[in-house]
Amino acid sequence: MTAQGRELGLGKDLIGLESLTGAQIEAILDTAEPFKEISERKIKKVPVLRGQTIVNLFLEPSTRTRISFEFAEKRLSADTVNISSAGSSVQKGETLVDTARNLEAMRIHMVVVRHGSSGAAKFLADRIPSNVINAGDGQHEHPTQALLDLLTIRDRFGAIAGRRVCIVGDILHSRVARSNIWGLLKCGAEVAVCGPRTLIPAGIEELGVQRLGSIEEAIEWCDVLYVLRLQLERMEGGYVPSLREYNRVFGVSSERLGRAGDEMIVLHPGPMNRGVEIDSDVADGPRSVILPQVTNGVAVRMAVLYLLAGGRPELAEDAKVGGP
Ligand code: CP
Repeated sequence: MTAQGRELGLGKDLIGLESLTGAQIEAILDTAEPFKEISERKIKKVPVLRGQTIVNLFLEPSTRTRISFEFAEKRLSADTVNISSAGSSVQKGETLVDTARNLEAMRIHMVVVRHGSSGAAKFLADRIPSNVINAGDGQHEHPTQALLDLLTIRDRFGAIAGRRVCIVGDILHSRVARSNIWGLLKCGAEVAVCGPRTLIPAGIEELGVQRLGSIEEAIEWCDVLYVLRLQLERMEGGYVPSLREYNRVFGVSSERLGRAGDEMIVLHPGPMNRGVEIDSDVADGPRSVILPQVTNGVAVRMAVLYLLAGGRPELAEDAKVGGP
């Protein structure tokens, strides 16, 4: 275990937010704060991960997560290698563990893994000594997405505790929803969900989450409307009658936002289906913090990499190294 592990108790890996405490989550967000400034510098680089080799093993498509991890690693001066299923021996049937063991034989330190199967990140973490960071596993968790969402909410409101957050849409297939529900509840937010019955898991109330009956009710209730992507690729049919019908009943339009409180903000993890779950004038409108979410993704991932590699939660001195 790293020095950080002893201090914050995060352990070797970041698999999900379910196993973390609210204090640990807030400490990761605090650690991300000084890293925001590094991305605003002319020379966006500090040497805190010099000598660390990180493998980004993305066996499912990704734009935001893959690229922001790569930026985060490069800004911390780590050496990075990117692997996707296309062009690697995964296409020839090599298993996840064999792939990772071969990478370890080349003396790596960390693996950032995205995989289509729930549990893949934990499975890998239990079998290799390198740090493993879950960049999204099936329908299970996407912890760094939720961390960047929490940071964005905290930036806007000053605190997460006491805020009302409604997650709208395809909760059933969403690892983003699951990580956000854990993270928000642990940080003291009130959480609700809203969407078609077919896309809300049975028994979700047992987690401490309310169910709201309509998008209008959700918009009136919340400080943060978290709009999820309709995961068309994970649906085998029958969940919603049609995309047009989904938009008519649950789509977030500027007309519907007329019911919102003055401070209410709109988040979306991306990629968006414009005109399905969210209209363009909302996605690009004044309540949207969708691009600030993406910006925060780099700082949060720098913090996670830094902490798992052994950095201290109070890193100001390390982060200053390298200068503006
Ligand atoms: N939010 C998110 O995970 O986006 P990508 O699939 O582009 O990484």
